[in-house]
Amino acid sequence: MKKVRIGVIGIGGMGVSHCNSIKKLENAELAFVCDIDKKVAETRGKEFNVPFFTDYKDAIKSKTANAVTIAALHWLHSEIAVYALKNGLNVLSEKPMTVTVADADKMVNAAKKNKKLLAVIFQRRTEPWVIKLKELISKGAIGEITRTLCVDPWYRPQVYYDSGTWRATWKGEGGGVLINQAPHIIDIFTYLAGLPVKIEAKTRTRMHKIEVENEVSAFLEYKNGAWGYYYTTTCEPSFFRMEIAGEKGKIVVKNTEITLYKYDMPISKFTKTTKDMWASLGMKEEKVEYETNIPTGHNEIIRNFVQAILKKETLLVSGEEGLKSVEFINACILSGKTGKPAKIPVNRKKYDILMKRLVSQSKAKKRVKVQRLTDPQFLK
Ligand SMILES: NC(=O)c1ccc[n+]([C@@H]2O[C@H](COP(=O)([O-])OP(=O)(O)OC[C@H]3O[C@@H](n4cnc5c(N)ncnc54)[C@H](O)[C@@H]3O)[C@@H](O)[C@H]2O)c1
Repeated sequence: MKKVRIGVIGIGGMGVSHCNSIKKLENAELAFVCDIDKKVAETRGKEFNVPFFTDYKDAIKSKTANAVTIAALHWLHSEIAVYALKNGLNVLSEKPMTVTVADADKMVNAAKKNKKLLAVIFQRRTEPWVIKLKELISKGAIGEITRTLCVDPWYRPQVYYDSGTWRATWKGEGGGVLINQAPHIIDIFTYLAGLPVKIEAKTRTRMHKIEVENEVSAFLEYKNGAWGYYYTTTCEPSFFRMEIAGEKGKIVVKNTEITLYKYDMPISKFTKTTKDMWASLGMKEEKVEYETNIPTGHNEIIRNFVQAILKKETLLVSGEEGLKSVEFINACILSGKTGKPAKIPVNRKKYDILMKRLVSQSKAKKRVKVQRLTDPQFLK
């Protein structure tokens, strides 16, 4: 195979961005576009000069593609991915990988069984500050992790929530800030610090008229006994802050600015050996520099997906990696709704029962002024 032929399923705001990224690659071709909305599918088919479909099964069965990207709404990612994988296509799914851990398992298992690639679009992993942080932590700059913190506030006005019938409903999205805005930073946080084994969360809705959570405060416990804290909301303007403390030092991130505090001695050793009752551990503060001129974003994720198919390049975000943030999100929602800590891996059966109930109670929105606009920052 010299060129990967890729079909795009779900051709609203994000799907168009996928088409543009595919068009930039020499070793890939846009095979088709598909959208359940005929007008959208037809318009985009003409615009990109490719066949269009309105049924994803027909598109996949058309045998015109070796791969698909999925940019339909979250609940559909698993269903479409499993169908494509079973029919021998490689799959690149938008974030969130899907809504429930059970559905994410189905995707991972279908990829394994059919020996096809499954990747997830967590494009922020390609950003220079994330690459630098991963390198620092992997090389042991802070030693074993002892504490984490991730505070990731977002802001959305009511008009955003009123712009689509699916937005911020259990039926349409399967969650609120956790499933829509927060997945990127949850992905980076768990990529860098690992997945907790237990989460005790409080979730609530304030300020906006929506049925899903828009504020989350969670206490985290890790396998090695370390503790952590996570917060997200859509009621507060940015900035984002992360701290990862370890035996040998700590890392503080504000947006993309990294500071490394390197202890003069591992803290356990110092604590046991110092003879000075008022001693405090010395540390060196370093502003961490990194190369910024590297390929990033959707373009880089789609390039990697194509190279993984053609040249066996390692996937930047595999299905197994994508599943981790779904575990984190589901644990927060499960704990928030039950008032009890939730273990990770999340109990699949319990979560499905909870989600079924929430979806069945989901109410249709009364005031909607539909606007099909993706956040402009993702359309570059
Ligand atoms: N990676 C990122 O940073 C990023 C940014 C924005 C959106 N997204 C993700 O992309 C996905 C789509 O978001 P969007 O903003 O483009 O939404 P959108 O509503 O603009 O587009 C979704 C499209 O899917 C179509 N669709 C619905 N059911 C379908 C079906 N059965 N078959 C084919 N098409 C179907 C809709 O008609 C619509 O055109 C979401 O999962 C979202 O989380 C990711």
